[in-house]
Amino acid sequence: GLPQDLAGRHVVVSAGGTREPLDPVRYLGNRSSGKQGYALARTAAARGARVTLVAGNTELPDPAGVDVIHIGTAGQLRESVLKAAADADAVVMAAAVADFRPAVYAPGKIKKQEGQEPEPVTLVRNPDILAELSADRARPGRLVVGFAAETDDVLANGRAKLARKGCDLLVVNEVGEHKAFGSAENEAVILATDGTETPVPYGPKEALADTLWDLVAPRLAGPGR
Ligand code: C5P
Repeated sequence: GLPQDLAGRHVVVSAGGTREPLDPVRYLGNRSSGKQGYALARTAAARGARVTLVAGNTELPDPAGVDVIHIGTAGQLRESVLKAAADADAVVMAAAVADFRPAVYAPGKIKKQEGQEPEPVTLVRNPDILAELSADRARPGRLVVGFAAETDDVLANGRAKLARKGCDLLVVNEVGEHKAFGSAENEAVILATDGTETPVPYGPKEALADTLWDLVAPRLAGPGR
């Protein structure tokens, strides 16, 4: 049978992409399918965890036996993750959170004006939820895991990001036209603050999820409740 090494644990997983509205009918979005985060939620539940899945845009059905909270924007994702994280043993940020949002939300649909160029869209930064969770060590023993999708210098950028974000583990993968986003397969290296680097060969997103929980479980503080 499956190891029940997450029994008595509460884990929070974010998944999918956020959408930042420009007006009532338009948004800035990204290509995240949510598949990796959903695989993490399913595998954690199978290993005995109580799972809260905070889901951005995705076409996937809610996994059985998991508490699913559907959100739209990065701001909503932040609110739901921070609330669920209050009593969590681990938080895994697999969501593709928009780094920027339109500075202004137009309450009415933006219209094209005859003979006029469109107005430029000004963007502002969204809060970095992963960095915020990592900086908040008020609740000792809560493990924080991030994801990094890189197109070049994958390992070097990953190592720098692990240090910059301050999380405990970072799953680094290379993204490209046929890699990671939307696909059912993934290939990655999982970096830990203790210097260990665990390569995960190309394979189903479930396999990567199980390898991540293999690394998370022994790092959790105290016994499960
Ligand atoms: O900095 P970058 O966007 O590459 O970092 C990716 C990691 O940070 C992912 O784990 C993602 O969920 C998280 N993130 C976040 N808040 C943001 C942007 C990214 O938590 N505003």
